[in-house]
Amino acid sequence: MERELDQYKPDFVLSAAGVTGRPNVDWCESHKPETIRANVIGCLNLADCCHLRGIHMTNYATGCIYEYDEAHPIGGPNPFKETDEPNYDASFYSATKAVVEKLLDNYPNVLILRLRMPISCDLHPRNLITKISGYEFLINVPNSMTVLYELLPISLDMARRKLTGRYNFINPGAVSHNQIMDLYTEHIDPTFKYKNFTIEEQDKILACGRSNNELDATKFKAAVEGSGLPLTPMQDAIVNVMKRMKANLDKGVNEDGEQGGEGSQFREPGGVCAARERAAKRQKTE
Ligand SMILES: NC(=O)c1ccc[n+]([C@@H]2O[C@H](COP(=O)([O-])OP(=O)(O)OC[C@H]3O[C@@H](n4cnc5c(N)ncnc54)[C@H](OP(=O)(O)O)[C@@H]3O)[C@@H](O)[C@H]2O)c1
Repeated sequence: MERELDQYKPDFVLSAAGVTGRPNVDWCESHKPETIRANVIGCLNLADCCHLRGIHMTNYATGCIYEYDEAHPIGGPNPFKETDEPNYDASFYSATKAVVEKLLDNYPNVLILRLRMPISCDLHPRNLITKISGYEFLINVPNSMTVLYELLPISLDMARRKLTGRYNFINPGAVSHNQIMDLYTEHIDPTFKYKNFTIEEQDKILACGRSNNELDATKFKAAVEGSGLPLTPMQDAIVNVMKRMKANLDKGVNEDGEQGGEGSQFREPGGVCAARERAAKRQKTE
């Protein structure tokens, strides 16, 4: 890493490196040293190497370090702010992310962008929509989410401005899995059906918990203002995602406009159904 930094002498480093586990975060429960190596040691090592060279680093982090509680209830007026202490460590993955964020805070060269449930406008296997379209049962809880089409350009703008510190990197507001999949049925696959189960029932089939929360977008909105870049409220952003996804799938391209690329499965035999089956095979739930 040091050799590459010295060879290429970048002004900016963007890091989305991390271990989320395959097929899902349950993996981290049984691979704790590996999870620490990537999510804590690797991340800090990169931040430190950049700091020593005066390089700005953007870290694509996570907001899965909070869980709705009495002070932050579902739909309440008090979503989690950047200054709130993490209150969720029921998965080892989340625990490592909360620890590393606290340490990264001490680096004056680091921008921490807290993503949640990233969404792309295609059927890429890492897209939240593709993932949940493969689940037999869904929980129905509103969550903050990150629409990559809109927010990745914002992250480049923030890096260029050399902003630092923590930002909830999400579209303002929240959306539930049911709302998303109702729109998916409307726009993409009219044959799609889902069933719900409770968080307690979900916990029975998982090795560790999954966080549900809404993050506060006030600080992030203020940072975006004046950039000229759009930041659409979540409820509208998800409708726009479905419209763009439909257009991409009809053209047989993925979010990056690549013909036949990962996420452009609509033109494959079986179309969206095949993508859904692949998602179901890959993971029961993430
Ligand atoms: N996916 C989500 O739902 C989600 C939500 C919120 C935040 N995030 C965060 O966003 C970041 C990216 O997540 P993702 O979903 O894109 O994960 P991903 O698909 O698993 O990609 C992670 C990347 O990190 C690289 N990596 C892992 N360990 C590494 C190491 N020790 N050194 C160098 N590179 C390493 C991997 O490289 P190889 O391919 O070579 O292994 C891979 O390219 C992570 O920090 C994650 O915590 C993800």
